[in-house]
Amino acid sequence: MPKKIRRIGLLTAGGDCPGLNAVIRAVTKAATGEHGMQVIGIEDGYAGLIEGRFKELTSFNVSGILQTGGTILGTSNRDNPFKYPVKNERGEVEFKDVFDRVRANFDKAHLEALVAVGGDGTMAMTAEMIKRGIPCVGVPKTIDNDLAATDVTFGFDTALTVACEGLDRLHTTASSHHRVMIMETMGRYAGWIALYAGVAGGGDIILLPELPFRLDKVCDKVMERHSKGKRFSLVVAAEGAKPEGGEMVVRKVIKESTDQLRLGGIGQQLADQIEERCGIECRVTVLGHLQRGGSPTAFDRILGTRFGVKAVELVAANQFGRMAALKGVHVESVTIAEAVGHLRRVEPDNEVIAAARMLGTSFGV
Ligand code: F6P
Repeated sequence: MPKKIRRIGLLTAGGDCPGLNAVIRAVTKAATGEHGMQVIGIEDGYAGLIEGRFKELTSFNVSGILQTGGTILGTSNRDNPFKYPVKNERGEVEFKDVFDRVRANFDKAHLEALVAVGGDGTMAMTAEMIKRGIPCVGVPKTIDNDLAATDVTFGFDTALTVACEGLDRLHTTASSHHRVMIMETMGRYAGWIALYAGVAGGGDIILLPELPFRLDKVCDKVMERHSKGKRFSLVVAAEGAKPEGGEMVVRKVIKESTDQLRLGGIGQQLADQIEERCGIECRVTVLGHLQRGGSPTAFDRILGTRFGVKAVELVAANQFGRMAALKGVHVESVTIAEAVGHLRRVEPDNEVIAAARMLGTSFGV
C-alpha cells in the first residue's frame, strides 16, 4: 500500500506559458477532492521554496482561473536552489547551494511531496531535489515544445495559434505592399513554433535552428516567387535560426538565469540582407512574449488539466521521480531523468517538413 500523502506543495517555474492555471486548478481540485490532500501553493517557482513564501490553494480559490493566462502562483526562470545568487560581505553576488533552506521550509510547512511544473531547467532542478530526498513529481510545460520524453508540452498550441494568426495578418499587408515580411518566433534552440506556424499560415520560407540556412537559397526563393508574379514573400524565422557555418543571434546574456542566453535579432539581420540582395522592401515582426501571454487554447486547457490530474495520481501512488507525459493520445508517466539533459528538437526528416517541401516551401537549404 502506498503511504497516504496528506499535504503537497505545488510550484510553477521557468518562463510562464498558457495552461499553467489549468494545471494549478486540476492539481488542487483532484488533490483536495478525490484524494483528501491539502495543497500548498509556492510563490514564484523555486524562489518561494527557498524563501518560504506559501499560500494554501483550495477548490474555492482556484475556481475561475482555467481560461486565464500566466500563473496565479507566479514564476521565475532565475532561481535555482543549487545555484542561488547570494550577496557576500563585500556586496558581490555569489552563487550558493541553498538546499538546506529548501529542506527547512519544506519541513516547516509539513509538506510531504512536491509537484513541480516546468521545462527542462525546472526538471533538472527537480531531479536534484529527488536525489536529495524530496519526493517530487513533474509536469512538463513550455511553449517551445522542446522537452524530451513527452510528445507535446502544454503552452505550445497557444503559442502556435498566436504565431499563426500573426502570419495571417502579415500575409495581407505583405501582399498589398509587395514586401518580404519576416516573422521571428520564439522557441530557443528548437524550431517547433516556427515550423508549425509557418506551415499553418502558408509561409514561403521557414528557417529553423535545426536546419542552418543558406542566404542564397532564401533569396532564390524570394526571386523565384517574384518572377512568377508573386511579388511578396512570407518568411518565418525561429529566433534560433542560423546560417550555415554561422551562429545563433544572441540578444542578451542573463548570468543568473537557468539558461543564460536570450536569442533574438535574426529577423532584422535577414531583412537587411534580403533587401540588399533582392532589392525588395522587407519588414520584420518579432512576436516575442505575445506568444507566451493570454488565454490558453482549448487544447492547452485540456492537456494542462490531464497533466495536473496525472501528477496527483502519481503522488497518491507514491510514484515519485516521475513526470506526466503525453504519448500518442494517452497521458502516461516517464522518469524525470528521461526529460533532463537533452532537448527534443525538430528532426531534419520530420514529416511536417517533408509535407511542406512537397508544396514548395523553402527551408533555405
Ligand atoms: O522558453 C520559453 C521562452 O519563451 C523562449 O522561447 C524564449 O527564448 C525565452 O523563453 C525568453 O525568455 P525571457 O522571458 O526570460 O525573455
